[in-house]
Amino acid sequence: MSKWFLLNFVLLIVIVWNVVGHYSFPRLPVHIVFGVIGALIFLYNWTRNAVFETIRNVRSRKTKVALARFSRKVVTIHRWTGNIALLAIVIHGLLVISTYGFSLNNIKMVVGVLALIGLTLQILTGWLRLYKPTINLRYIHLYNGMMLFFLILVHILM
Ligand code: HEM
Ligand code: HEM
Repeated sequence: MSKWFLLNFVLLIVIVWNVVGHYSFPRLPVHIVFGVIGALIFLYNWTRNAVFETIRNVRSRKTKVALARFSRKVVTIHRWTGNIALLAIVIHGLLVISTYGFSLNNIKMVVGVLALIGLTLQILTGWLRLYKPTINLRYIHLYNGMMLFFLILVHILM
């Protein structure tokens, strides 16, 4: 099992904890609903990393083959969920700005915008590696995803 399963679980708990704790759950403001949808779909896509790591490390050949088969099945969904996450976050950002106005003094907003830029790069490298796979694109898609994970964690904790 990859340690990323545990880290992903931590982000899931942080998302749920924050949203249930900060707002009068279940009556959430619309901008928060879109933020949560985007964060959860990002997490779903990022779990691919945990599955890939497990495939690389697991000893049993049978488990390896079963996981690889499962992974191939969900890859078609992966590209669309990635785009849906971006759409949800663009709506989240626009709603936040129309509610509070844009301000560089709001650090949470600045980190959010950085995460939006990262997410856009993630979707771009995803489509590029689908049509023209190169080792560099693979690494950018992987390490930018990792950076995004921590950026989103910080954004939500702020
Ligand atoms: C990948 C990108 C993003 C993700 C996954 C994300 C996710 C979230 C989540 C789950 C929340 C609710 C949790 C909490 O308040 O602690 C939230 C709140 C917030 N986000 Fe984002 N966000 C992203 C991008 C952005 C962008 C681009 C902006 C700015 C335009 C932004 C500004 C904010 C603000 C100001 C709040 C607090 C709103 C409030 O308390 O009423 N976020 N975000
Ligand atoms: C939320 C956005 C996304 C995240 C977090 C994400 C994350 C990941 C991760 C962690 C992997 C495995 C990395 C590896 O070890 O090589 C991967 C693979 C891949 N991703 Fe994404 N991705 C996202 C969006 C997209 C999009 C929009 C596409 C568009 C086509 C895409 C295309 C691919 C492809 C083609 C692979 C290789 C799959 C395979 O060989 O089975 N990704 N992605």
